[in-house]
Amino acid sequence: VFPVGSENGYTSWIVTKYDHVKELLKSPSFMKDQSNLYPSSDRGNEAEKVNIFGNMMLDVDPPDHTRLRKLVQPSFNPKTIKQLEPRIREISDGLIEDMKKKEGSVNLVDDYAFPLPIIVISELLGVPAEDRDKFRKWSNTILAASSDSETEFVEDVEAFTTYLTDLFEKRREQPEDDLISQLLQTEEDGEQLSTNELYSMVVLLIIAGHETTVNLIANTMFALFEHPEQLKRVTQDHSLIPSAIEEGLRYYSPVDFSTARWSEADIDFHGNRIKRGDLVLASISSANRDEEKFENADQFDITRRRNAHVAFGFGIHFCLGAPLARLEGKIALEKLFDAFPDMDLNRTEPSPEWRQVFLLRGLDALP
Ligand code: HEM
Repeated sequence: VFPVGSENGYTSWIVTKYDHVKELLKSPSFMKDQSNLYPSSDRGNEAEKVNIFGNMMLDVDPPDHTRLRKLVQPSFNPKTIKQLEPRIREISDGLIEDMKKKEGSVNLVDDYAFPLPIIVISELLGVPAEDRDKFRKWSNTILAASSDSETEFVEDVEAFTTYLTDLFEKRREQPEDDLISQLLQTEEDGEQLSTNELYSMVVLLIIAGHETTVNLIANTMFALFEHPEQLKRVTQDHSLIPSAIEEGLRYYSPVDFSTARWSEADIDFHGNRIKRGDLVLASISSANRDEEKFENADQFDITRRRNAHVAFGFGIHFCLGAPLARLEGKIALEKLFDAFPDMDLNRTEPSPEWRQVFLLRGLDALP
């Protein structure tokens, strides 16, 4: 448990050990909604709170969290997700056909790992997949919010909001068999979903669907390219794919840090005095390499047993999309190994680099 900064008398902390990370993510004393913790003059970012992501389920506590999660949980249950399998296979086949037509080397990030989950989440929600480049840009800007141009941020948020407003209008007039039409119905019925919550829900699902599974697929492939004997084994024996995916999630965790929690009270946490209002982050990557939990934690091993990683978080905010991400990852790798049994990293290109984005661990490109 490390203090990493302080501002206005509050300290920020990072928690790195596996057991401590689980404890932090499980404890109701570490809250998601900080708005009641500070005297009003300290509430720096409240006025800037933008509606389209000010009311995400990821940022609130029970009972709001429970209510919001219940609305979408049925669409993401393993059983429901399983029904998407034929369509995910089809999308994957299409992307592979396109890659085969390319001359020379392909980029596994842009040509495969990125479009696959985007097309799937777009279809599930009912947003046109052709607009994916816009979403990519908007997702990027929102995630980089604190470091990049403020004007660009405001412009992109405005464009995203207008886009969704138009889309909602269309779906209201002509509902379809998709999640957005279903959420619009819930919003109209009142009580269960406010307008801000509706926007926040769709934005959260778009961002989560854009920025995570791409990293699961590309990072796992990268780790396999770094370990050619294991790549060969899993290419020949597809029954190893699920454990390769779990090991990819642990070894190069797509989400590096949890989102922020705030301490509800002055608490002693493993020898540290964490004060009411302090910000606490869990280092998921560090927990997943904790030697006390994982034998040879720094080794990539697709046959690892008892791989209880926390790549999808823990507790009530445990990733809603985990069954979808796992299924997409499994199909993505299966199809790749079938289509390109001899594929390798293009070692004449510069070594792949990690994107410089807070919270996420993903590659810029994978030639
Ligand atoms: C929450 C990781 C894919 C939707 C989370 C959290 C993590 C995570 C670590 C918890 C954050 C925290 O507690 O601060 C991942 C990883 C993914 C992935 C590693 C892919 C490999 C997805 C997908 C979707 C999704 C595909 C949806 C389509 C969500 C949602 C939450 C969440 C809605 C918030 C749940 C809540 O607050 O109850 N994810 N995610 N995720 N994830 Fe994912």
